[in-house]
Amino acid sequence: MSRIEDILEKATRLRNGDALPEGAINIPLQPVAPEVFKIEQKLIVENPYLVTVTDSGSPIAEEYKKLKSLILKLTNAGGFKNTLMVTSTMGGEGKSITATNLAITLAQEYDHTVLLVDADLRKPSISGYLGIQPQIGLTDCLTKGVDVSDALIKTGIGKLVILPAGSRIENPVELFSSNRMQTFINELKQRYPDRYVIFDTPPVLSFADAHSLGLVVDGVIFVVKEGGAALNNVKDALNILKDTNVLGVVFNNVELSRFDSHYSYYTYNTNYYYSVRK
Ligand SMILES: Nc1ncnc2c1ncn2[C@@H]1O[C@H](COP(=O)(O)OP(=O)(O)O)[C@@H](O)[C@H]1O
Ligand SMILES: [Mg+2]
Repeated sequence: MSRIEDILEKATRLRNGDALPEGAINIPLQPVAPEVFKIEQKLIVENPYLVTVTDSGSPIAEEYKKLKSLILKLTNAGGFKNTLMVTSTMGGEGKSITATNLAITLAQEYDHTVLLVDADLRKPSISGYLGIQPQIGLTDCLTKGVDVSDALIKTGIGKLVILPAGSRIENPVELFSSNRMQTFINELKQRYPDRYVIFDTPPVLSFADAHSLGLVVDGVIFVVKEGGAALNNVKDALNILKDTNVLGVVFNNVELSRFDSHYSYYTYNTNYYYSVRK
């Protein structure tokens, strides 16, 4: 059994009510207030799960800091690997929330610019989550020759900049598998060698976009939502990604009331981040 399968099996056992594995850290959670936050008059963050903005001192935000530390470690071993992608088996598992919280945490604590790219051209949501209304973005860079620096939006959160999805296009998968995308990512890497570039993507089982992108980026972060995709589907998705560099799994949105009503569980080994919160 691969290590990812092993961690997924552990997740299944947790769901079935098994005791927490040895080494688990329990972190008390605070309820997240659904308030509106304004950042430098530019962003309006209303989603309460963007805790790195709305409640940056909270235990949940602390978990993203741990994820950030793990990512820093994994991407700095043996040369800087700066292009990352966040994906999952199916829609609604928390890819965009994870990608955005991770990018914000990195931008707040890492001394270099972090570029968050909305590469879910089918259901872009990062601009919506941050309350910005961009005119152009990734597709315009790829299909209309717009210079990337003209499409970037500074957020005012540390050195976080966003590349929105851009104008709607007919066939995203063609774009993702094209040389243009590969060339574009290579250009980004060369142009911004010291910054992280994090791509938010569509789900793996529904579309081929994420797999194509996974072949070009340095590392893949795979989100699994509690009660989301069936284990077999998760395994199928990971199987599709087997020729990409899956760095680890973020286990998202897990109900832990059977253990303790307001506790979350977090543990990881060298390759896997495994987070539970609700
Ligand atoms: N840990 C969480 N707890 C509760 N709700 C969450 C959590 N993570 C994400 N969500 C919610 O789930 C929905 C889908 O999240 P999103 O990140 O947009 O999914 P995806 O990008 O995978 O389609 C959003 O409404 C988001 O607020
Ligand atoms: Mg999304």
